Amino acid sequence: MFEGPDLETGALPAQLAELYDGGLSIREGSVYANFVSSIDGIVALEGGTAPSGGIISGRNESDRFVMGLLRAFADAVLVGAGTVRAEGGRALWTPEYIFPAAANAFRALREALKRDATPRLVIVTARGELNPADRALQAGALVLTTTAAAERLRSALPKATEVRAISDAERIGVDDIFQALQADGHRTILTEGGPQLFGRLVASGRVDELFLTVSPVVAGQKGDRSFGLVHGVDFGRTPQRSSLLSVRRHESHLFLRYRLRDSVFPPARAGEGRVGA
Ligand SMILES: NC(=O)c1ccc[n+]([C@@H]2O[C@H](COP(=O)([O-])OP(=O)(O)OC[C@H]3O[C@@H](n4cnc5c(N)ncnc54)[C@H](OP(=O)(O)O)[C@@H]3O)[C@@H](O)[C@H]2O)c1
Repeated sequence: MFEGPDLETGALPAQLAELYDGGLSIREGSVYANFVSSIDGIVALEGGTAPSGGIISGRNESDRFVMGLLRAFADAVLVGAGTVRAEGGRALWTPEYIFPAAANAFRALREALKRDATPRLVIVTARGELNPADRALQAGALVLTTTAAAERLRSALPKATEVRAISDAERIGVDDIFQALQADGHRTILTEGGPQLFGRLVASGRVDELFLTVSPVVAGQKGDRSFGLVHGVDFGRTPQRSSLLSVRRHESHLFLRYRLRDSVFPPARAGEGRVGA
């Protein structure tokens, strides 16, 4: 429906281009977020304990496709422990888990981008309350945590998951998170939230772009049981500015892409972040 004139749109494998109705590129080294919100701006239900994204999107196939496509571009998918807990142990943060019908095309895209077979799941937690039986932890993830929680987590979590202490304090600094990602060679980072982690990332000026699906539902709100994209950070009278990069629509779902901060990453080298260009 709308695409900013300076938006780079690299070619995608045929099935992905058909489903996305065009090309897409994600700048190498960028940090981009993906959320689905109700019309009234709610992204998290039941105090953040419900698997809210699927409920709010209505498990919409187009939204699931976009989630898969965005995962397919990432070196790592960064989430807070609240998002993992809310999924109840079944979810994987891979492109093919969320949209299996395009598994081969996602793989082809990752090969063309010279990415590992799947993006690495990186979970941030201070309290370290993670369930060792979670499928994502069994499959293998990186858990970034505090010194206090690390030892217990190391003995509790499956061997496939690495536990790394990156903070002696109760909270983990955003810079420390990115240092750990960088140390492992993860440069292009997708964050799927949730609202507490996303708030901290935005407040630290770390998020370059936001892909926001607006689902045609009204969630309502009473007390603080439901909340929006950012939770626990208040920008007061200086709301963070953004600019609109693209708008797509499938039936009544809107797919919005925003730039949250001006280009802070270096200009792309020719062909970087593109497929088949
Ligand atoms: N609609 C959507 O697109 C969408 C996307 C993602 C999530 N959600 C929903 O959001 C809800 C969860 O919300 P949430 O805000 O709790 O999610 P969250 O940000 O994923 O999780 C918060 C937790 O992450 C850890 N954490 C975050 N930042 C940290 C830091 N700087 N240092 C140490 N630990 C940190 C803490 O874990 P510990 O408590 O373990 O210390 C904190 O309690 C769920 O309902 C989920 O379904 C919706």
